[in-house]
Amino acid sequence: MKDSTVDPDSGTDGDLRSLTEISPKEIFGELRRGVLGQDAALRFVAVAIFKHVTGKVPGNLLLIGNSGTGKTTIMNNIQRLYHDVPEYRPFRAMTIINANLLVDSDRMEFRPDRLLTAAEQRARAILGPRATAEELKAAMERATVCIDEVDKMSSVVAGKPNAIGVVLQQGLLTLMEGEKVAYRTHAVVDGEEREITLDVDTRGMMFICGGAFEGLYDQVYLRVTRPGSGEKLKSHAIRTADGDVRIEQRFSLGDFLRDEDLFTYGMVPQFLARFDNIVLLQDLSVEVLKEILIRSVDSPFVRSRRYFEVLNISLEIDDLAASLIAEKAEKHTRTGARALRTIFGKIINRLEFDPWRYEGLEETGEGQYRLVVSADLVRRRLGLDAAR
Ligand SMILES: Nc1ncnc2c1ncn2[C@@H]1O[C@H](COP(=O)(O)OP(=O)(O)O)[C@@H](O)[C@H]1O
Ligand SMILES: [Mg+2]
Repeated sequence: MKDSTVDPDSGTDGDLRSLTEISPKEIFGELRRGVLGQDAALRFVAVAIFKHVTGKVPGNLLLIGNSGTGKTTIMNNIQRLYHDVPEYRPFRAMTIINANLLVDSDRMEFRPDRLLTAAEQRARAILGPRATAEELKAAMERATVCIDEVDKMSSVVAGKPNAIGVVLQQGLLTLMEGEKVAYRTHAVVDGEEREITLDVDTRGMMFICGGAFEGLYDQVYLRVTRPGSGEKLKSHAIRTADGDVRIEQRFSLGDFLRDEDLFTYGMVPQFLARFDNIVLLQDLSVEVLKEILIRSVDSPFVRSRRYFEVLNISLEIDDLAASLIAEKAEKHTRTGARALRTIFGKIINRLEFDPWRYEGLEETGEGQYRLVVSADLVRRRLGLDAAR
């Protein structure tokens, strides 16, 4: 992303573009630096952000994707975008909160104040300690609110009604429609710090909800594969890193999902109706997983490389080695990119523990070393056959 040392305060208004000049395409390009393999979803996200920052049109999204496909990563990257693009300074009061924190399960009560408290903290961090009530209210009313794990707030859990889920969905849908919430806090009024009540209007907020909806995959899979369902799984050709081609029948939720499936799952129809779009994330392909492994800031390889730097060892990885790891990770469809961490950990742990005895360690002079994660090493550690 752009240089984050740019101080938005140092620019006069003349330096900043108007918000309509920052196109969805540009927003998409920025998000794509941190989120790989989810272009279709990111286009929806980019448009939603554009709508949110330019006007009064809500751009609420529901993100559905298997665990480890990038839902939380998308939310984090929206935050990064707001932070890195100086024009988006007024929108930095963004918060990512877990759905279960928005309900009090003892009292069966929706707690919008918890969401507003999180938004307020962000707003204060941006506005500074002398924020006036008006400034605070304005920043909170423009907030982007990301609610993670909404799927845990289904109205049905294990076939039984889940009342707390209904409480949450009803509460959220009211906020998304636009509600004035009386919110108690303190602020500077006439130069003095005072207790105040802000009437926070939620109409201008953007809501992005995310969830893995795990049971949904099984539910739709069963509907589709039931004899006589009239549906048919699609075949995909898969080329392995070692050169073989396999034909696999893969179930992809996106091929079959209907609104009715979400109602059956336990999403309240009126809640679903508040979203502009329901966006499905892709399961990550071997190629994308490989790219995440090699490139993403948060990847286990990149982290390990930082660790070895401390020992004056430069860590590298062979292309085939990366492919083998990605291929293995891709088989763990339930953990997505998270599987990279487990698999890479198995390979690297002994080297991190004692790199000095590894035959692949090479001295490059002046106390510097080079260590290459080779395909051989990966095969040995993962117990794979050497196919070539
Ligand atoms: N599409 C993606 N692009 C880049 N990294 C990803 C992507 N999906 C997952 N990851 C990585 O995998 C890990 C888990 O991703 P996360 O976004 O938390 O998954 P979830 O969809 O379960 O919220 C993170 O470390 C993240 O960096
Ligand atoms: Mg997550």
